[in-house]
Amino acid sequence: KKVVLAYSGGLDTSIILKWLQTELNAEVVTFTADLGQGDDDLEPARRKAEMLGAKKMYIEDVREEFVSDFVFPMFRANAQYEGLYLLGTSIARPLISKRLVEIAHETGADAIAHGATGKGNDQVRFELSAYALNPDIKVIAPWRDWSFKSRTDLIDFAEKHQIPIAKDKRNEAPFSVDANLLHSSSEGKVLEDPWGEPPEYVHQRTVSPMDAPDEVTEITISFRRGDAVAIDGKELSPASLLAALNDLGRDNGIGRLDLVENRFVGMKSRGVYETPGGTILLAAHRAIESITLDRGAAHLKDELMPRYAELIYNGFWFSPEREMLQALIDRSQEDVEGDVRLKLYKGNVIVTGRRSPKSLYSDALVTFEDDRGAYDQKDAEGFIRLNALRLRTLAARKRNG
Ligand code: ARG
Ligand code: SIN
Repeated sequence: KKVVLAYSGGLDTSIILKWLQTELNAEVVTFTADLGQGDDDLEPARRKAEMLGAKKMYIEDVREEFVSDFVFPMFRANAQYEGLYLLGTSIARPLISKRLVEIAHETGADAIAHGATGKGNDQVRFELSAYALNPDIKVIAPWRDWSFKSRTDLIDFAEKHQIPIAKDKRNEAPFSVDANLLHSSSEGKVLEDPWGEPPEYVHQRTVSPMDAPDEVTEITISFRRGDAVAIDGKELSPASLLAALNDLGRDNGIGRLDLVENRFVGMKSRGVYETPGGTILLAAHRAIESITLDRGAAHLKDELMPRYAELIYNGFWFSPEREMLQALIDRSQEDVEGDVRLKLYKGNVIVTGRRSPKSLYSDALVTFEDDRGAYDQKDAEGFIRLNALRLRTLAARKRNG
């Protein structure tokens, strides 16, 4: 039996790697992706997997694909789950599953394995994506299967099998962290009381807004077809652009979020997210849309956004309904181009200007000065009279009892 494991190099997936071999007698192939999580060097993960008995190790830099094929399409929709969450973890899972399924095919494995627990969203995302891409793939989710009852049992197993246990700098660190180029997320332990303020050390990629510089940082982001393509006139690849926005956001304390959300499996959970670059990008994208999108187009995509965000949150990236919505959203972005100027200051993203060769903004229409006949104010009278017709009819009925 051969299994492709999504392997981070961390303690949990190392335990899983051993467990697959010792309990299921499986040959294990590992897949470690550089999604921009911040471990610039994935060599240690390769060596560790080999040391723990992996048959073959795949290590891949998928940052550009992650941003251009997953993050940017999602940002065209301004997607936010439950009004706030920028879906940093949710959007990475389909890409990981896609590679797991492809590697399974290449190596003749019939199963994939992941380290998500049986309580969360990630198991659903990994598995729905995998089944959508290969209906016959088998999925092994050790967290749902093994007999360990506690963290202590896990550590005992790790010690028994000589799995290195990094002595955590702070043993009260959050139990579960996920990171990629778009965000860091922390859940569990010290965060489990939703009334308790997240300690400063939970944050990994932003300075506190209180400690951010007293000076404003001004930037201009340029868009083409709804995607950011340049910062201050400098064209950047999707991943480099997001990385540059992350740096700007980090320094200015931007993109922190403390959220209680509804997981797909039913319970509420509390998480702390940091999405510095994504928070800037969202504000800028909405600003460029504000002058380039027609009202009907803008309002329709805004109505559909919560639905689209929920599909991504719930793991339905590879579904016909997500693809249908994506086609609609992408179609709306054809003329979304131009520049947005922003100020970054102590946790705030302040839009100060937007311009576009495709702008629908009309000075002549909106001006309170002489519009030289562009708009006849008398037209508004009939417009209001007809719109008021049924309201007056209703009001008359009410008055007459
Ligand atoms: N609650 C977030 C989501 O469902 C993050 C989940 C993964 N985060 C983590 N710290 N394990 O997308
Ligand atoms: C997990 O349960 O593995 C992480 C949290 C989640 O997937 O929601």
